[in-house]
Amino acid sequence: MTKRAADSPIPDKPEDPFPLVTDHCDIIGGFGRGSAELGIPTANIAVNQLTKAINDLELGVYFGFAQLRPVDHEDDVFTRENGGKVLINYGRYLNRQNGDLDPLPVVLSVGKNPFYGNDFKTVELHIIHQFKDSFYGAQVRFSILGHIRPELNYTTKEALIEDINVDISTALQALDKDGFKVYRFQLAE
Ligand SMILES: Cc1cc2nc3c(=O)[nH]c(=O)nc-3n(C[C@H](O)[C@H](O)[C@H](O)COP(=O)(O)O)c2cc1C
Repeated sequence: MTKRAADSPIPDKPEDPFPLVTDHCDIIGGFGRGSAELGIPTANIAVNQLTKAINDLELGVYFGFAQLRPVDHEDDVFTRENGGKVLINYGRYLNRQNGDLDPLPVVLSVGKNPFYGNDFKTVELHIIHQFKDSFYGAQVRFSILGHIRPELNYTTKEALIEDINVDISTALQALDKDGFKVYRFQLAE
């Protein structure tokens, strides 16, 4: 695989300050560009539920594992800033047989998304798995095991998509190393 200029070397196992592990965090509504414009759905995390160690990470792209859990709650509707409506289903359609509740590989962005001109921080997970339904309102517990690259600004949406796809392959390759694999089951309660 081609290594990009900004890529960090991937060690054989997590190196300080990793591994970092979260508690269960709520998945909140983002701007909705991830799925609609990029074709890469992301789960936005409520950043105030993350530890200081995670909030202090430099802006960039990281990899780890994530495990979802549904929340017992009736459906709600969330209205985005642009007026779009999102059904919050609290993860009621997550399906154990489909592997949705397993610890899954994740690539995450800790960023301000310069491509979209945001000036506040977001933590977004792209869980590498084929989900059949959305899961807004569900909870997720995740680990961060390593750094892939700093956050970059892009001039085109296509360049951003291409780089996120490279991030996904880099994450899968790293998580397949013995020194990272062992962390898959660290998330179980
Ligand atoms: C793995 C990954 C890497 C990303 N890297 C960048 C980046 O380098 N620069 C950037 O502006 N946005 C980056 N993004 C953020 C996308 O711009 C973001 O997912 C998009 O704004 C959708 O957000 P929304 O779901 O809140 O609408 C990255 C997202 C992911 C999942």
